[in-house]
Amino acid sequence: MIPETNGYSLQPSNPAVRNGGSTVPKPFLKWAGGKQQLLADYEEYFPTGFRRYFEPFLGGGAVFFHLWNTGRLSGAAYLFDNNEELINTYLVVRDDPDELIKILAVHKERHSRDYYYRIRNLDRLPGGLAALSGPERAARTIYLNRTCYNGLYRVNKKGHFNVPIGRYKKPKILDAELLTAASCALQGATIEVRDFRSLVELAAPGDFFYFDPPYHPLSRTANFTGYTAGSFSEDDQLDLAAVFTELAAKGCFCMLSNSYTPFILELYKGFRIETVRANRAINAKSNGRGAVAEVVVLNY
Ligand SMILES: C[S@@+](CC[C@H](N)C(=O)[O-])C[C@H]1O[C@@H](n2cnc3c(N)ncnc32)[C@H](O)[C@@H]1O
Repeated sequence: MIPETNGYSLQPSNPAVRNGGSTVPKPFLKWAGGKQQLLADYEEYFPTGFRRYFEPFLGGGAVFFHLWNTGRLSGAAYLFDNNEELINTYLVVRDDPDELIKILAVHKERHSRDYYYRIRNLDRLPGGLAALSGPERAARTIYLNRTCYNGLYRVNKKGHFNVPIGRYKKPKILDAELLTAASCALQGATIEVRDFRSLVELAAPGDFFYFDPPYHPLSRTANFTGYTAGSFSEDDQLDLAAVFTELAAKGCFCMLSNSYTPFILELYKGFRIETVRANRAINAKSNGRGAVAEVVVLNY
């Protein structure tokens, strides 16, 4: 039996009080599939109380920051993703925001088309990104994220970032207050490069897992899963459903977002499935924009 509440005391309810400043922490990266716009719809689906919080497909981390802001992360938080550049960025925001802000100030000062491609192509030089310090790599990731086309993250088979420069008049390259607020929220969080298949051994009853994997495509041509060199296949979705089922059997609270497709409905048919509507660009054609149904799968 899963306990309804965990008995931990809640954090102070005002996030600005908790981080000592006036900026509320929220995602500092634009990330495909960001959940910021769905938080209000998700509110009724979060468990009322839980022990530790796990977010294994972290991306922009909208749900983590939301739970932190609303004072519901009283146990430890575990934030994972298999994208190394993304995880390095979170580690630097947590541990060395001042150095990161200094380097971003330089990028902001020097930003131009030529400069964008010079920074983007650092991963093509001998030694690649390993030649850079952690803060230099993180600043590169944030700089590219803020200035590239649509904030996309895409690498080719060699692992080279290949998104062209975006058309922004005044991209916000440095938001020192937001980085400082995010750093405060991340203090004490465990942040690791990790594949979702290695979660079960970490879990204990009463832990809350929020899964936001790359979505199952609505059609064969609508493919949004190119975050890293390998994309997220139907076999990956099957493995994830197996992990979800094992964690549910362990007495964890499990919540998962995905697209509303026959494949996903079949995969989770033993669980509670709710639908929400999201405004998303679902394909490159102009008529592909609009509200699409998504599922929220719950074991509670
Ligand atoms: C839909 S995004 C998450 C969006 C995030 N919830 C937000 O609000 O921004 C999916 C994430 O899963 C990560 N990912 C893809 N395959 C993975 C795997 N096998 N294990 C762990 N993370 C993976 C991607 O790097 C990407 O950041």
